[in-house]
Amino acid sequence: MPRDGGEPLRPRKARVAVLVSGGGSNLQAILDAADRGEFVSGEVVLVISNSKDAYALERAGKHGIPARVITKGKRRTQAEFEGAILEALEEAEVDFIVLAGFLSILSADFVKRYPERIVNVHPSLIPSFCGKGAYGLRVHEQALAYGVKLTGATVHYVNEIPDGGKILAQKAVTVLPGDTPETLQRRVMEQAEWVLLPQVVEECCRAMVEDEGKGNATDRDA
Ligand code: GRF
Repeated sequence: MPRDGGEPLRPRKARVAVLVSGGGSNLQAILDAADRGEFVSGEVVLVISNSKDAYALERAGKHGIPARVITKGKRRTQAEFEGAILEALEEAEVDFIVLAGFLSILSADFVKRYPERIVNVHPSLIPSFCGKGAYGLRVHEQALAYGVKLTGATVHYVNEIPDGGKILAQKAVTVLPGDTPETLQRRVMEQAEWVLLPQVVEECCRAMVEDEGKGNATDRDA
């Protein structure tokens, strides 16, 4: 009990933004984990989509989470596009970013602003079937074409190299005879991505807020 008899001090929750481009099933997995009480060290305060048609936007709306559409557009350079994202992140005081099916490669300048504060989920066991051009169904097409018997998902920190940041977690998934890219994609999502991503986000957010509790404040708190 605290000496004044009041409520014990609880660490704050990390303020998380999820960046999306499409269906948003990984965003949903994080929101579901929060609803089940398995994601407690952070909260999703912002969803950013680079596509106005992303179903992920509806998922955010159903959960009452503010969502922004920031597209590259015709006249925007990558720097302007990223500047608009940064502005939204700063406005919402975000300190942890999840790329969940976000189909735009972020520049070195962008990722350097959030060192070990950005994670991505990739639907293969990195270093297989990853890097520039390996996204969505293509990853599973490549795995099937190669004939691997095991594939899976990887959650990793994001650095300036596409799919090149430090690996945080991986989960293997069996490739079955007769698999199509679509059936394999679904199994990888169900058995690996939707399980791993919320767990890693919770672990990263918990480590971050606990670290702050020990007095290791980040620049933003200075
Ligand atoms: C997932 O397979 C993810 O690993 C990849 O893109 C897909 C996005 O799916 N980066 P969703 O939008 O989360 O449903």
